[in-house]
Amino acid sequence: MVSSRVSWLEVVACRCYFYGSGLVTLVLLSVFPAFERDIMAESVAIERVHTGIPGLDHVLEGGFPKGARVLLAGGAGCGKTICCGQYLYKGATRYGEPGVYVSTEEPPQEFRANMLRFGWDFKKLEAERKIGMVDAVYQRVETEIAEQESLQSILYNLRSKLSEVKILVEQLGATRLVVDSLPGFGFRVTDLNTLREIFLEVGLLLKDVGCTTLMTTEIVEGSGLISRYGIEEFLATGVMVLSLVRQSSVIRKVYVRKMRGTSHSLNDFAFTIGREGVELKGPIGVRSVSRQRRLHSPRRKRRSRR
Ligand SMILES: Nc1ncnc2c1ncn2[C@@H]1O[C@H](COP(=O)(O)OP(=O)(O)OP(=O)(O)O)[C@@H](O)[C@H]1O
Ligand SMILES: [Mg+2]
Repeated sequence: MVSSRVSWLEVVACRCYFYGSGLVTLVLLSVFPAFERDIMAESVAIERVHTGIPGLDHVLEGGFPKGARVLLAGGAGCGKTICCGQYLYKGATRYGEPGVYVSTEEPPQEFRANMLRFGWDFKKLEAERKIGMVDAVYQRVETEIAEQESLQSILYNLRSKLSEVKILVEQLGATRLVVDSLPGFGFRVTDLNTLREIFLEVGLLLKDVGCTTLMTTEIVEGSGLISRYGIEEFLATGVMVLSLVRQSSVIRKVYVRKMRGTSHSLNDFAFTIGREGVELKGPIGVRSVSRQRRLHSPRRKRRSRR
């Protein structure tokens, strides 16, 4: 086993003298005490936050980079909300990391009921101050009422909602945050500049609170984009794309499109939604090493010669 203790030895000066008949080299050395190499490694390593999704940490070198803002993009019913719920629930119950869920699409009571199907009791965690819930659905109702709302009033409403999020994060000491979904903040807003302003405000909050954040966006089939408006990914330091593919049966798959500070595979991975929630399975369309070995084994070659 290689020791992780390292000592430094420095050559301070080196001189040569003629002494009698021969040449003598005089070297001045200074020796520094041993230090733990692991301490050095830690100072450059990126801290990881467990995803709570079996199999996913392994793909991401241990989890999401701490403080990352990860966009989960996918079509309707791909499993985005369940991934977010699992991330928060496992964070609070298994890793002791409180979290906040910001809902812009379905009212919190619907979210709680859906999560309870997996045995994840969010109401209990809220009572224990391990999870906070922000209902931002009203935001879009207000926008619906005032169709001619000015940018200023949209931003005013948004800022007050976002400051509610910030206060809750601080009160709970939350380190995990979910925004489900980003386009929900821009419901019925058609002007691209207004949308940019909205996402800019949200992006500023996310940077400010510094939580490891999951945000969702929808992919409109056939749009060729990886988000609803083609802007959301610019708020993100990581992007994961979820989809449903119809082969002989329907398969759920996910790939990590970007994850800063992480060496990750670009393969598609199959995943399932079962009684325990989301679970990552193996890569799709990648031959396993053992299969390749079998194909190139001498026994197989002998057979093919016959
Ligand atoms: N209890 C459950 N057990 C197994 N699968 C479930 C369960 N509940 C939901 N699902 C599956 O998950 C899908 C919904 O997942 P989820 O709500 O996370 O999708 P989403 O990507 O957030 O969708 P949307 O775009 O509508 O927000 C359902 O369509 C269903 O296929
Ligand atoms: Mg959803």
